[in-house]
Amino acid sequence: MYIPITLLTKLTEMVFSSAPTTFPNHTLITLNDGGFIPSPAFGVGSALYQKNATEDVVLALKNGYRHIDNAAIYGNEESVGEALKIAKVPREELYITTKYDGGDVRTEFELSLKKLGVDYVDLYLIHFPKFADAGGGIKTVWREFERLREEGLAKSIGVSNYGVIELTELLLLAKIKPAVNQIRYHAYNAKENAPLLALAGLNDIVIEAYSSLSPITKFPGGPADPIGERIADRISTVSGGIKVTVAQTILDWLKTKNIVAVTTSGKDFRQKEQLQVFQESFPPLTEEEIKEYEEAGPGWDQQ
Ligand SMILES: NC(=O)c1ccc[n+]([C@@H]2O[C@H](COP(=O)([O-])OP(=O)(O)OC[C@H]3O[C@@H](n4cnc5c(N)ncnc54)[C@H](OP(=O)(O)O)[C@@H]3O)[C@@H](O)[C@H]2O)c1
Repeated sequence: MYIPITLLTKLTEMVFSSAPTTFPNHTLITLNDGGFIPSPAFGVGSALYQKNATEDVVLALKNGYRHIDNAAIYGNEESVGEALKIAKVPREELYITTKYDGGDVRTEFELSLKKLGVDYVDLYLIHFPKFADAGGGIKTVWREFERLREEGLAKSIGVSNYGVIELTELLLLAKIKPAVNQIRYHAYNAKENAPLLALAGLNDIVIEAYSSLSPITKFPGGPADPIGERIADRISTVSGGIKVTVAQTILDWLKTKNIVAVTTSGKDFRQKEQLQVFQESFPPLTEEEIKEYEEAGPGWDQQ
């Protein structure tokens, strides 16, 4: 029987495509290891640092968040585990990130699994370069990360707060490249991070951005504010009646750039507002708007 090559290709794609269909409120970004990462992530650091996160995570899961961003040093993995038990979302519909904060990798990793009450994590990150130094050096630590990945205990492995120098060093020794680099990224430091994003792009490393709402939460009154308001007005108009907020335009900026948004809120209405951006129907920023945001005030946060 003759099967046209185009049909054969299509069928092969259908059989081998592993894109999960279980993250309806998220954008899925492809990783360099063949996996996917859902955006946005709900963070339990910063405002929840060393605090019980159960209530906030249960609310976030109820609202549709499925990616939880954690770290050993946040001191609340057990409370996240408690939330997972209460919410009863099937494990395969969750994406759990946690981070390594020094010590023996295997011991720390197993402790995180135990506290979270899971038997694997979707993403395991070295939180800061200094923690790899404290754990015996990047080569030793990364080899153990690679073993965790090979054993399927961490579906993906990556880093956080790695600059160009540290990332280059890691790429030179890695047998498995980091899949992501989670960094502080907002309108006022986007330009200084351009070389890091370029290096990540060359290696298909996905950027995860935290503290992106800083222009409105930490440095209000800056040059990005009127730009955000103008973008919010435009998107409100084209999306027919939705009242888009400046915070949403910031998350939309990340979404348009294929960057994973790591954000948070203890408030029900804000969680819903955040997730709304990741609906397929939410319009992207234009190239011009992206440029305006990033050129509004490089370094303005340093003043
Ligand atoms: N890898 C790292 O080194 C690192 C470092 C820092 C953070 N992180 C991760 O990133 C997550 C988020 O960090 P972040 O707090 O810096 O992120 P952010 O997204 O910039 O800010 C979130 C904070 O902004 C407030 N907020 C949300 N929407 C708002 C709005 N529309 N208007 C005014 N305020 C609003 C929230 O407070 P309300 O609760 O009042 O809404 C929340 O506390 C952390 O939880 C952690 O998981 C990672």
